[in-house]
Amino acid sequence: MSLSLIGRSIAESATLKLNEIAAILRDKGEPVIHLGGGEPKSRAPIDALISASALLNSGEIRYTPADGIPALKQAIIRYTDEFYRRKVEPENVMASGGAKQAVMVCLQAILNPQDEVIFPSPYWVSYPEMVKLCGAVPVPVFPEDGTFYPRLQDIEQRFTTYTKAVIINSPNNPTGAMYSEQFIAEIVEFCEKRGLYLIMDDIYHRLLFDGRRPINCYDYAKDTTENSKLVVVNGVSKQYAMTGFRIGWAVANKKLIEVMTNIQSHQTSGPSALLQHAAVGAINGVQSSVESLRLTLENNRNVMVEQLNSFDGIKVTKPDGTFYCFADFSVYGKDSTKLAEFLVEKVRVITVPGVEFGLEGYLRLSTCGSVKDVIEGVERMKWALDPNSPNELYIGDRKLVRDWM
Ligand SMILES: Cc1ncc(COP(=O)(O)O)c(C=O)c1O
Repeated sequence: MSLSLIGRSIAESATLKLNEIAAILRDKGEPVIHLGGGEPKSRAPIDALISASALLNSGEIRYTPADGIPALKQAIIRYTDEFYRRKVEPENVMASGGAKQAVMVCLQAILNPQDEVIFPSPYWVSYPEMVKLCGAVPVPVFPEDGTFYPRLQDIEQRFTTYTKAVIINSPNNPTGAMYSEQFIAEIVEFCEKRGLYLIMDDIYHRLLFDGRRPINCYDYAKDTTENSKLVVVNGVSKQYAMTGFRIGWAVANKKLIEVMTNIQSHQTSGPSALLQHAAVGAINGVQSSVESLRLTLENNRNVMVEQLNSFDGIKVTKPDGTFYCFADFSVYGKDSTKLAEFLVEKVRVITVPGVEFGLEGYLRLSTCGSVKDVIEGVERMKWALDPNSPNELYIGDRKLVRDWM
């Protein structure tokens, strides 16, 4: 079979694969605890459901403009004003099939083969693959001081004449780290000076803990004209627990949005009308579900960190936001894929190997589930990994006997 070089170079999405494994095991009646997921368990906001139902009941669900229905663009304009104090016009906005597609289409609009795209590591699994899909080169940058917080000097060191764009995701998947205001200010200035696109993936920007407030990249931009290469990406998936609705968006200069819309119009003709209506409901509706999700996640984060701190040898950096905790399990094995497989096989706990995010020896643990899931999940992991654990463990009425170590 002759397949394209680019197609063959693209890895499967590790996180989506884990969802599949969890579903298969659950179907078989296995007592799975899924600490691998990247989606809140709460219900979608009622306003989203009402808005989508109204369109569904009309029976008239048609093509929409490729960049989104006017009502959704207006909702995004209002959102941008509220959260970024930035007034934009409909021509500055493109709705898309999730933040994922917004980032992808943006990269397709700006990259030529061999261009380079810098992003801090650990990084969201899709960035390298998306850049490769454009025939360009991903350049992950590891903070030299070994933390999860990049410094400008780390990025500057990897800058070349091929560098076309920088992607920043803060608070970050997988670490939960929120980058400092100083870093955001510096990176905005650096990209402006060098003429680089700066893609701010703000998909988790309202899911912050310990009283943190979202950082607004526009506050540091000197160029507020239509020449600005700042692109802000966001969506309904995480903040409104609407992952299955697949609606995200990009806000950028008009020329870039026009090119992105042309690309999207040939790829998908734009996102589904039904789901765009749902997104309008969520963005314009009652916002209390976002705060209640945030509070739940903060509580789960506290429980997760406490559990991990009582786990011999595990090092954990307290997440500042999101619903992930990226913990150093290297005392139990440097190969994170093997470690994650071992945990599924022995105690049916699903985690995501750190190597998928660019860092070996780590596991990404999700706090999206219940507190019970967090506590029991980490307890099962402890039992499986700590050689001092008792020989037996009960999961419900199922007895597990340790036949390893
Ligand atoms: C950093 C980051 N950006 C974008 C996305 C994609 O979000 P969406 O569901 O809106 O495509 C995710 C999802 O996991 C993510 O973690």
